[in-house]
Amino acid sequence: MTHMMTILGIETSCDETSAAIIQDDKVLSNIISSQSVHLQFGGVVPELASRAHLKKIIPIYQEALDTAGVSQHQLDGIAVTCGPGLVGALLVGVNFVKGLSLATGIPFVGVNHIEGHVYSNFLEAPHPRFPFLCLIVSGGHTQLVVIKEHLTYRLIGKTRDDAVGEAYDKVAKLLGLPYPGGPEVDKLAQRGNPSLVKFPIGLEKSKTFDFSYSGLKTAVLNFVQQLSEEERKAHLADICAAFQQAAITALVSKTLRAAKTYQLTDIAVAGGVAANSLLRKMLTEEAQNQHCRVFFPSIQYCTDNAAMIARAGLERLKAGYSSNFSLNAYPSIQLGEEIQ
Ligand code: KG4
Ligand code: ZN
Repeated sequence: MTHMMTILGIETSCDETSAAIIQDDKVLSNIISSQSVHLQFGGVVPELASRAHLKKIIPIYQEALDTAGVSQHQLDGIAVTCGPGLVGALLVGVNFVKGLSLATGIPFVGVNHIEGHVYSNFLEAPHPRFPFLCLIVSGGHTQLVVIKEHLTYRLIGKTRDDAVGEAYDKVAKLLGLPYPGGPEVDKLAQRGNPSLVKFPIGLEKSKTFDFSYSGLKTAVLNFVQQLSEEERKAHLADICAAFQQAAITALVSKTLRAAKTYQLTDIAVAGGVAANSLLRKMLTEEAQNQHCRVFFPSIQYCTDNAAMIARAGLERLKAGYSSNFSLNAYPSIQLGEEIQ
């Protein structure tokens, strides 16, 4: 394909309403509106998320066009997250895009949100070379995937219970920290002493590439419960650091072992937890000993955003995929599962 492709991306799977314009792999705009309505509830309230998306989707779309300096008729294609995520939230994006396509004739394609996270690694140079290993770590997913070429995924390991981001959010909650807990725990952990207590590393001895985070979460809970109020306050940062140490060590050791086993030298990390300071540092350092190259998206592309959806959609459109008006929301679709 010689002419440049201008793609609109739309993301409404959870609590960010986002629209982005990319031109090939260059991001022209990436507007993200995070819903604050959920703060008072300590977690995302699905019904409120849908309503907030509905209010914001059109202004965010307009802002994405304006910031990019692109007008609607210049769009070559539209990519929209159609799952996994909250069904009512997804439907806002999917229906907005169907309406836009109906009015303009612009082709559109449904994109898997997790595939979008993977493609956040292709928004900036340098990006990983095929075949590569991808560690996907978000609020709902913890997976190791071998990616041989564009749009093909071979799952080699996953969490057996909680996702790592979910563990961060639950630990934050039991420590009385605000939602979303991941960034808060990370911030505190950076000034804590991780040797206060040694928490268990999930499936440490297992030969599989699977993860487990429920035992770690329970260990933190048990430890915190036997502390007095003053001890808890005094050691808040240390508890975060000890939890972070165990949570991240599990990710780093399995990822490096998988890279060795599958003889892969490029490792990419994707999803909200890719923003984690210890993961970025530990994996980068330890991968060097193994002569692997590690890729992290810049922080703005780690958490939910529409630029990554546009980038994955571009690849899908180039490969000849497109959706029709029967596209639906698929709340629990798997990575690589066919989208109609
Ligand atoms: O990818 P994402 O924005 O949404 C999902 O698709 O789930 O990921 C959100 C998750 C949340 O669990 C959040 O606590 C976690 O990513 N997270 C972090 C950090 N920043 C976000 N976890 C650990 N350290 C961080 N710095
Ligand atoms: Zn996400």
